[in-house]
Amino acid sequence: MLSLRNISKSFGGVKAVSDVSLEIEKGDVLGLIGPNGAGKSTLINLISGLLAPDNGAIYLSGKNITSRKSYERARLGLARTFQNLRIYPNLTVGQNIEVAEISSQYSERKETKNLDEIIHVFDLSDKADLASDELSYGHLRRLEIVRALALNPLVLLLDEPAAGMNENETQELSNSLRWVQENNSCAIIVIDHDLKFIMGVCDKITVMNMGEVIASGKPNEISNDARVKEAYIGH
Ligand SMILES: Nc1ncnc2c1ncn2[C@@H]1O[C@H](COP(=O)(O)OP(=O)(O)O)[C@@H](O)[C@H]1O
Ligand SMILES: [Mg+2]
Repeated sequence: MLSLRNISKSFGGVKAVSDVSLEIEKGDVLGLIGPNGAGKSTLINLISGLLAPDNGAIYLSGKNITSRKSYERARLGLARTFQNLRIYPNLTVGQNIEVAEISSQYSERKETKNLDEIIHVFDLSDKADLASDELSYGHLRRLEIVRALALNPLVLLLDEPAAGMNENETQELSNSLRWVQENNSCAIIVIDHDLKFIMGVCDKITVMNMGEVIASGKPNEISNDARVKEAYIGH
């Protein structure tokens, strides 16, 4: 579904992403972890087209999208959320979702059939008429994910979706993402610092450190990897 081949990106002298290759298939939930500054957000920005790589190629469903613009990638099936929330503060919750729904009309993909169910699963059904600034932080994060899902993505990119959530909310988010995996069969890449959350929700984990992939595997393989322990303890 999504394939990165030897992707690199430098900012001045900093190699933010260095020769990263990875593959994800339909229904995969891939966790992307690593210390601060490892290059995780940069990788998501390269996939979503906010940044252009210095080297390498990105394929979505077999199509080379490396030089496509962000909005073109969105139409082809890439949706994302941001580490810093991007909600329209002057619109209601329902209107925020509607904007995404309208955008999806320009997509090459069909509309999301189960959007009402998604809104319910992310606990926003009774909040449509609230001003978005009346939502708790945890619900704003959920709203971002629902908006991304309204684009009916093939691949959903989540940058720290559990940041600022309490343990209960994080557990609910974990259940909701599992539900999405089962019902919408999109591939998901999720960045987070909460290892318990990542281990619970992901089938595979890729670990980055200083721009490089240092380990990849199932959650239990990753938690026993010496390089991973070193990268974390080192920070
Ligand atoms: N727009 C940018 N300009 C300059 N340096 C950047 C930019 N974005 C990220 N970096 C640098 O690239 C490295 C990786 O950052 P980032 O991808 O945000 O890491 P992570 O999300 O893993 O914490 C860091 O050293 C960061 O300072
Ligand atoms: Mg980041």
